[in-house]
Amino acid sequence: MKLCVTGGAGYIGSVVAQMLIDEGHDVCILDNLSTGHKSALPEGTRLVKGDIRDDASLDDALDDGVEAVLHFAALSIVEDSVAHPLTYFDNNVGGTLSILKAMNRLGIKRFVVSSSAAVYGAPNALPIEETAPRRPTNPYGHSKLCVETMLEASKRAWDLRYVSLRYFNAGGSTEKHGEHHDPESHLIPIVLDVAAGRRKAFDVFGDDYDTPDGTCIRDYIHIHDLATAHVLALGAMEKRNFSGVLNLGSEEGFSVLEVIETAERVTGTTIARIIGERRAGDPPGLLASSRRAEEVLGWKKSHSSLEEIIQSAHEWRTRNPDGYPD
Ligand code: UFG
Repeated sequence: MKLCVTGGAGYIGSVVAQMLIDEGHDVCILDNLSTGHKSALPEGTRLVKGDIRDDASLDDALDDGVEAVLHFAALSIVEDSVAHPLTYFDNNVGGTLSILKAMNRLGIKRFVVSSSAAVYGAPNALPIEETAPRRPTNPYGHSKLCVETMLEASKRAWDLRYVSLRYFNAGGSTEKHGEHHDPESHLIPIVLDVAAGRRKAFDVFGDDYDTPDGTCIRDYIHIHDLATAHVLALGAMEKRNFSGVLNLGSEEGFSVLEVIETAERVTGTTIARIIGERRAGDPPGLLASSRRAEEVLGWKKSHSSLEEIIQSAHEWRTRNPDGYPD
């Protein structure tokens, strides 16, 4: 298929783009390289360097018979969204709106998009099913909820087929692709930086939550398994006319301290930690039910034990101590 991947130079988009190329698809990447990396671009893709809010860039990227769009280009740092809400709505909602308008204009009717567990806010019950109330607690989560609202309405109005994949906490690396944000705010890469001596100590954001060890619980899912779900989602739209939302998580929860302890075992080091204040907007616990993705897509997780996620991230970082060169 001829496909457009927005955000294909980013952490998750680059892994999906690589998998699509490996499966024989023809992939064009639209990325403004604001947070993505040139050297993360898979070989064999055409890059349109431009913004998803720019019609000329969209026309270029969606040219020539593109049949589906996989949309990753978004801002995704919860704390940042609290400080800069309008920037988040502009990029995530405004950007998706301009993609959908271009698709509608060009008659492209298949769309796979990165959504997030952040749409649930602080859930009443775990594990979280897709039918749980959507009550985001930060602008990032609200921006993803707005996107899902646009998709539901577009499905009814102009027959768009879509799959909105609600990621839990993405982690890990593949042979070629790894996690490199600047600045880094995510737990696993920061823990590994401490293990490698690039940082002195890890700041634990609160140990007074109502969880067994007092630190927040998250569901970590390997980017390889996330990527597989995107490829299956294309097939489900194509062959079974499927549209809808699906959780993607490992269905296992780990506290911040358990992640640190696992990283200590994987790296064979002691990781210094400092217990600090809670971070604004952090829900105490997130844990997915991915039953629906398994049923609808035939999705099977194969790399998402916490050890494998951390081991693969550690190996990539050891091979690429400074991350991507550009
Ligand atoms: N944490 C620390 N110290 C740090 C960094 C993180 O204690 O220096 C803690 C956080 O408080 C949280 C856990 O580690 O409890 C995970 O934090 P991350 O920043 O790695 O990830 P988040 O859970 O905040 O958010 C991630 C994505 C979001 C997505 C969410 C969905 O960044 O885009 O997962 O679960 F919405």
